[in-house]
Amino acid sequence: MKLDKIEHIGIAVKDIGEASEFYQDVLGCQVSQEMDVPERKLKIAFIDVSGVKLEFLMPTDDDSVVSKHIEKRGEGIHHICFQVDDVEKAAAELAEKGAELVDRPRMGAEGKKIVFIKPKSTHGVLIELRQR
Ligand code: CO
Repeated sequence: MKLDKIEHIGIAVKDIGEASEFYQDVLGCQVSQEMDVPERKLKIAFIDVSGVKLEFLMPTDDDSVVSKHIEKRGEGIHHICFQVDDVEKAAAELAEKGAELVDRPRMGAEGKKIVFIKPKSTHGVLIELRQR
């Protein structure tokens, strides 16, 4: 197992338009086009800060997992995503070592394979692994 780098940090927001406006107008960031991820009941957008991205996650439905996160903890950091060489291999290795995965590796919004590790296993951080 080797983590390449932080690929992005996921931030749960209530209103992606308002969040984008703040990061654009106040912090001077360039925000990407909003994307719909209907299968996760999310709208997402990215900011790139010299290669480290922020991923805004806005729930589009009350039963989205991000809605539950916002209900419990409010807006803020939702997950950290690390880039790895091979998500399938990483998932197999994690399972073998007793780490709990949220689900099987699957295709992410940007057409790259991803998998999530439960915060229970990582000392409180939801970790996403993303194929290089
Ligand atoms: Co992510």
